[in-house]
Amino acid sequence: MAAINFSHCLSLLSILSLSFLRFALSDSGLIGVNYGRVANDLPSPSQVVQLLNSTGLNRVKLYDTDASVLTALSGSGISVTVALPNEKLSSAAADQSFTDSWVQSNIVPYYPKTLIEAIAVGNEVFVDPKNTTPFLVPAMNNVYNSLIKYNINSSIKISSPIALSALQTSYPSSSGSFKSELIEPVIKPMLSFLRQTGSYLMVNAYPFFAYEANTDTISLDYALFRDNKGVTDANNGLVYKSLFDAQIDAVFAALNALNYNDIKMVVSETGWPSKGDENESGSGQANAASYNGNLVRRVLTGGGTPLRPNESLNVYLFALFNENQKSGPTSERNYGLFYPNEQKVYDIPLTREALESGQSTVPVNGSKSQVPTPSNDGDVTVSAVGQTWCVANEEVGEKKLQAALDYACGEGGADCRPIQQGATCYHPNTLAAHASYAFNSYYQKKARGSGTCNFGGAAYVVTQTPKYGDCKFPTGY
Ligand SMILES: *[C@@H]1O[C@H](CO)[C@@H](O)[C@H](O)[C@H]1NC(C)=O
Ligand SMILES: *[C@@H]1O[C@H](CO)[C@@H](O)[C@H](O)[C@H]1NC(C)=O
Ligand SMILES: *[C@@H]1O[C@H](CO)[C@@H](O)[C@H](O)[C@H]1NC(C)=O
Ligand SMILES: *[C@@H]1O[C@H](CO)[C@@H](O)[C@H](O)[C@H]1NC(C)=O
Ligand SMILES: *[C@@H]1O[C@H](CO)[C@@H](O)[C@H](O)[C@H]1NC(C)=O
Repeated sequence: MAAINFSHCLSLLSILSLSFLRFALSDSGLIGVNYGRVANDLPSPSQVVQLLNSTGLNRVKLYDTDASVLTALSGSGISVTVALPNEKLSSAAADQSFTDSWVQSNIVPYYPKTLIEAIAVGNEVFVDPKNTTPFLVPAMNNVYNSLIKYNINSSIKISSPIALSALQTSYPSSSGSFKSELIEPVIKPMLSFLRQTGSYLMVNAYPFFAYEANTDTISLDYALFRDNKGVTDANNGLVYKSLFDAQIDAVFAALNALNYNDIKMVVSETGWPSKGDENESGSGQANAASYNGNLVRRVLTGGGTPLRPNESLNVYLFALFNENQKSGPTSERNYGLFYPNEQKVYDIPLTREALESGQSTVPVNGSKSQVPTPSNDGDVTVSAVGQTWCVANEEVGEKKLQAALDYACGEGGADCRPIQQGATCYHPNTLAAHASYAFNSYYQKKARGSGTCNFGGAAYVVTQTPKYGDCKFPTGY
């Protein structure tokens, strides 16, 4: 039924306008980031806090309660979710004196100068090879009772991130249900705990895994929030424009099926790897930039999922850094927004300010914008297309990059005069800089048409001005 009105809604949206959009923006969801530290080459916690501050990210999720990290975050204004690791679940479940002393030494000394807002008790516990599931809810209860003891139960929430593998069915979204063997032992008791304590469900959702395993049936555009024809849920007619929304709604449907419609959700992890093994289809820098860039825009420009359209999405990106000591396939070590030296792996806006500065209201693919761009004076105006540029994807290697550069400057008709020796964009004299200049020229000349920033994977679209020395990258010809 809702689907029938969908196109009607869109045209209403463009007629209706300004105050509505203003509302939509101010009511948008929140973006945070997971600060994982399974690495031996990361900056110090205080450098990381400065990095977070400079990116404008003001919510962070940790995987423990490391003292140096919690101290560095003190007074930063950054909201923090900490964790009690899976290894401590059995002790935490066994005895409240354990959680009393854990809270006393890991929470109380830091709160409230460090803005701890939640404790993740365990992580993806149902798939923990050590079978810690029976300990989960008792541990959550004990931690909660310890918070009461220290009188901080009303300001700090307790939850536990679940993996999507907790679902038995997730397609179509409306048929979402939890695994039957988990429902009575742990899901229902946990949901009832969340309800009683006014907390929310944490969900780790990775469209990347679903895409990787089903490249024949799932379109990459659908997985990356790019323009696509959408997927209609045959049970209720709801139209899904992204795999992410479909995954989240499968969890909502599973909650509804157990009559826990009132439980809110935070997406405690989601991300896309910028690198992977050859058999990890979809991994790569350009796709990671698309996924995360489009996700941030989707979250910050408001709106819930088709099943819960009025509930904004709060999402923690995974992850802040590439983590070199993670095991598993190459992708595991390449989910970061940043390299350990604090250089960006790719350039995407992470805050509403960055979005509103007009740099990025088009899909990273460069197709037409549906989200009007607010202008700088705060008035919402319906401007045409936000700015995008095309840059080189160094991952493809020098040979492919050079071939693509030759094509762009030759047959492609890009304006390559500025990168000739002596001209304005000759410096920096690197292949990546020259190729980026040429690709961007081609892309702009083709009016940023879809597919015009690709060059066989050697290029991708960015939403912020490329920075190569003093060279200016045009946005129109
Ligand atoms: C964060 O950065 C802003 C400027 O961008 C500065 O005014 C503020 O003091 C910084 N906060 C901390 C805690 O470093
Ligand atoms: C915190 O615990 C106290 C004592 O049990 C209770 O009265 C209060 O409602 C709790 N606060 C919240 C937000 O649950
Ligand atoms: C992918 O390739 C790696 C080696 O490059 C191998 O270890 C792994 O098992 C492969 N994974 C699958 C799912 O085939
Ligand atoms: C969402 O909010 C609108 C406007 O307040 C309301 O008409 C609609 O019924 C709500 N939808 C749901 C699913 O709650
Ligand atoms: C987005 O880019 C990909 C890869 O370049 C291309 O296959 C796809 O058709 C593009 N989609 C749109 C809507 O432009």
